[in-house]
Amino acid sequence: MAGKLQAPRGTFDVLPEDGERRAALRESSDELLGLAGYAPFDTPVFEDTEVFARGVGQSTDIVQKEMFTFEDKGGRSLTLRPEGTAGACRAYVEHGMHKLAQPVKLRYWGPFFRHEAPQAGRYRQFNQIGAEALGSDDPSLDAELILLLSQLLEEAGVESRLRLSSLGNAATRAAYGEELRTYLRSRQGELSDEVRARIDANPLRAFDSDHQGTKAVMADAPLLIDRLDPEDAEHFAEVRGFLDDAGQEYDLDPTLVRGLDYYTRTVFEFDSPSLGAQSGVGGGGRYDGLVEQLGGPATPGVGWAAGIERILLAGKPPEKLDLPVAYVVVPEPEQRRTAFRIAEALRERGVQAEMEQAGRSVKGQFKQADRVGATHVVIVGAAIEVKHMDSGEQKAVADIQELLQEVSL
Ligand code: HAM
Repeated sequence: MAGKLQAPRGTFDVLPEDGERRAALRESSDELLGLAGYAPFDTPVFEDTEVFARGVGQSTDIVQKEMFTFEDKGGRSLTLRPEGTAGACRAYVEHGMHKLAQPVKLRYWGPFFRHEAPQAGRYRQFNQIGAEALGSDDPSLDAELILLLSQLLEEAGVESRLRLSSLGNAATRAAYGEELRTYLRSRQGELSDEVRARIDANPLRAFDSDHQGTKAVMADAPLLIDRLDPEDAEHFAEVRGFLDDAGQEYDLDPTLVRGLDYYTRTVFEFDSPSLGAQSGVGGGGRYDGLVEQLGGPATPGVGWAAGIERILLAGKPPEKLDLPVAYVVVPEPEQRRTAFRIAEALRERGVQAEMEQAGRSVKGQFKQADRVGATHVVIVGAAIEVKHMDSGEQKAVADIQELLQEVSL
């Protein structure tokens, strides 16, 4: 006998109940982002590996360890997208979107792939909802995007805490990187092997370490936020002004390091305490050099992405709507064609309706009506009767008009 087949490690099937919650989240987020002018947008799930190597950054964990990269039959190196921002910028350049009115506001929803060790809230195929605004460095965009993600999480019933910082511009970051390298080298004996090995490649990641010795060293480390250029400091102050006016709470966290290399200026992350180790529910920031790095004109950009599975794990299921649900019971097979037409007619008028479709006894059909949460059972026998499931009252109806009147709450 053949062995049982399973979904690949780190992947999952979306079962109907979860599917309903996803659909509801998608609907509410489409509305929220649509109202702010973020248009639906998508890119392929695989890209030339170069898009991520150049976009996300060679020194990141994502590019070094986590990409699903393969060669196609023409010998091209392709990669399943580990994130959406690099692809969005590639598309912006490819379609000459800099010629459109700026900013170009995009929203996306779909699967992403990272070869990580699977655990609760961390998968190899996961889904993100994301939003990007390209072509303007106006600080109101940073604030608008942060507030949109905050609202989205609130609507989904996710309790979260916002951490916020600024990374300044590329030159400030480079100068600060040198300062930090020099500092780390001066205390390298106290650092973890991993951090020591990456002093040259990515000294900022030392702030992320859980290693005790490294943590002690980082407590005295110089901070980038104290080295910002006046222009970047002013930009950050304006972002914070908009957030303060909106009553948005946040913690300033100068050690906030995001796992992607493209960020400049504003960076932020929403954590949810109920998620445990994988607490990052969504995050993002400004990436003013990314479009240029991918071969386009100098173009500022800002955006975020949030993990759909993490939102659903941390959030509350939405309240069930009070809408009628009809179940059509057919005692005798001769009435099946009439029952079929009645179910159709109810659906045409916007009432959720199903009929018996698995050869059950009448008793079994009533049980099934309970399972689907029927508020009304329509019995199609010699006459057509409607049973109100809450009161138990049963009534004969003469035609579909009368039936509809009965089947409304
Ligand atoms: P990220 O922080 O790498 O940012 O991912 C965003 C969110 O995706 C995370 O907060 C988390 O909820 C979810 N996520 C990431 N990896 C996994 C995983 N293995 N399993 C489940 N969920 C996961 C980005 O991807 C940037 N592109 C965000 C951005 C947009 N920055 C600017 N624009």
